[in-house]
Amino acid sequence: MTNIVRIAPSILSADFTRLGEQVQEAEAAGGDLIHIDVMDGQFVPNITMGPLVVRAVRRVTTLPLDVHLMIVQPERHLQAFADAGADQISIHWEASPNLHRSLQIMRELKCGVGVAINPHTPAGFLSEVLPLLDVVVVMTVNPGFGGQAFLPETLPKIRQLRAMAEAGGQPLDIEVDGGIQAETARAAIEAGANVLIAGSAIYSDRHSVEEGIRALRQAVSK
Ligand code: DX5
Ligand code: ZN
Repeated sequence: MTNIVRIAPSILSADFTRLGEQVQEAEAAGGDLIHIDVMDGQFVPNITMGPLVVRAVRRVTTLPLDVHLMIVQPERHLQAFADAGADQISIHWEASPNLHRSLQIMRELKCGVGVAINPHTPAGFLSEVLPLLDVVVVMTVNPGFGGQAFLPETLPKIRQLRAMAEAGGQPLDIEVDGGIQAETARAAIEAGANVLIAGSAIYSDRHSVEEGIRALRQAVSK
């Protein structure tokens, strides 16, 4: 595995009574970006956090903030998340009938431009917009909750996206999101992902944040 792997701890599984510390633990342990899951109870069944939390996290870390919008009509909120300090934003293909326009707005807001795709959405649906993207988030679970099992049927899609990006000479970040643990991390990286989003593998009662990050790094560096 030759590509440089980055790790994005997802604060969805953090202890929210001490969110600032948990973010700083991830930074101190070598996390590369902080993943923030925004859910609206419509696009996904769960409700989580909004720009207020992004703004709070912005104050406690210098790491880039990777904001994952699992919301309907994401275009209505792009400005708010950019103002709150998001460095890159991913909106869902399935929630965006005017995806091209939303991506242009994200570029104008000077945010990294990302699209997330659910497990049932083919990689090919991104072919027309791929050149506009910095990031694709491949959902390796159905979005909505932490701690779900990785869906191995998403692996061919990662391979396909990497091939599409390479065919265009594009340095695309392919993030995998959901069920990332040591073993699945390795499979995802081998398939062509280069960013591991991990919630419950990093934030857990069973080990420290540092141990969680170290285990993921070791799994992909062998
Ligand atoms: C799920 C979120 C993920 C979540 C992953 O819808 O998008 O970012 O935090 O959690 P784990 O790593 O526990 O599967
Ligand atoms: Zn996410």
